[in-house]
Amino acid sequence: MHVSVVGSGYVGTTIAACFADLGHEVTSVDIDETVVDAINDGEAPIHEPGLDPLVSVYGGDQLRATTDYDAIADTDVTFLALPTPKHDDGSIDTSIMEAGAESVGEAIADKDDYHLVVVKSTVVPGTTEDTLTPILESASGKTAGEDFGVAVNPEFLREGTAVDDFMEPDKIVVGTDGDGRALDRLAEVYEPLVLQWDVPVFETGRREAEMIKYANNAFLASKVSLINDIGNICKEYGVDAYEVAEAIGLDDRIGERFLRSGVGWGGSCFPKDTAAIIQHARDAGYEPRMLEAAVEVNDRQPERLLDLLDDHVDADGERIAVLGLAFKPGTDDIRNSRAIPVIEGLRERGAEIIAYDPVAASEMAGRFPGIEYAESAAAALDGASGAVVVTDWDEFGTLDEEFDAMADPVVVDGRRIVERREGITYEGLTW
Ligand code: UDX
Repeated sequence: MHVSVVGSGYVGTTIAACFADLGHEVTSVDIDETVVDAINDGEAPIHEPGLDPLVSVYGGDQLRATTDYDAIADTDVTFLALPTPKHDDGSIDTSIMEAGAESVGEAIADKDDYHLVVVKSTVVPGTTEDTLTPILESASGKTAGEDFGVAVNPEFLREGTAVDDFMEPDKIVVGTDGDGRALDRLAEVYEPLVLQWDVPVFETGRREAEMIKYANNAFLASKVSLINDIGNICKEYGVDAYEVAEAIGLDDRIGERFLRSGVGWGGSCFPKDTAAIIQHARDAGYEPRMLEAAVEVNDRQPERLLDLLDDHVDADGERIAVLGLAFKPGTDDIRNSRAIPVIEGLRERGAEIIAYDPVAASEMAGRFPGIEYAESAAAALDGASGAVVVTDWDEFGTLDEEFDAMADPVVVDGRRIVERREGITYEGLTW
């Protein structure tokens, strides 16, 4: 099948390369010529493990990129994978998606045979039917459900494992208005995956498919905030939250994953998606208290980490090491990283900050140019009066000698990676 993907960001590039690997001919459409050239030169425009080999094999051949939306008319199905940033009030900004839908509508206006448009981006319930479909109809002069189809197929990709998550999904969610042609076309797109992994294909309505994405992320973010709430109680009573988490994770109604308590969640999705669905609920006059509490607990964790540091060292004028800047290990992405409020809090305390991250230091230097960045964890700790661990990079689990060499080894672990030191939700085993 000939698939087109509009948007070559983290999701668009990943799904385009993976669709090619499934055997489809793929056309990526993006307004950024540097991205287009990179893909056609066989170079992945974003860093994602496993993506480089795919783009180097298929780029410029089975996977071609272009800035020309007209190329869409030669394809059978178009995935809209454009950004949906958030407004200050948390609601999503669908303007880029709307512009993309208009361009896709114009591109299929003169097409005679059936075309399927699939919303891949995360949009609040109702967006596809109430906003995007009318734009597609007016721009194409066609009737949705007759001349072309509109479906919703949310992604559940995690940064750092996006290719694996695409190739071995736990589910494929397909939202349509019951249009058999749309279901058949999406079934053909994903057939290789379904056959190989017997993946459940969950067919539902388009509003349900939009909501499933938000519910999935809201549930995961809330699970982490709940274990952080439990972890904070544990900390007050000298209980090891990780022992508690391991035991309750044995209950298959809870599950062992996403029970790692610590300084909280960041990234481009949890914060944006929780804020968007909370605002969408409020727009309908409902106050989603559980989701609001999940965000509130998350927002509180960085200050709890710094309060623990305050218990051991007055940071004012002291050299404090911040170990870990990325929002999670395995990526250089600092979007909504918990290191940002931690650095802000240390600056408010008058600390002399020395920061280290294996890959994200240059990203953070763009945000905080005025602080020092070390080349290694050891260099960051050398001469430091205290240290906070924010990202659970594996290398931070083998720093005992460096910690012990500190003048006064005050180390507060915002995750559970340095064991012997004080943890945000567990007691240090020894000092
Ligand atoms: C998430 C969802 O997992 C994915 O399905 C969705 O498509 C996009 O958003 P991502 O944001 O890449 O993926 O990262 P994820 O691995 O989910 O972690 C999110 C945040 O939660 C990170 O800051 C991580 O440190 C934190 N986290 C995760 C915890 O604090 N504890 C945990 O147990 C798990």
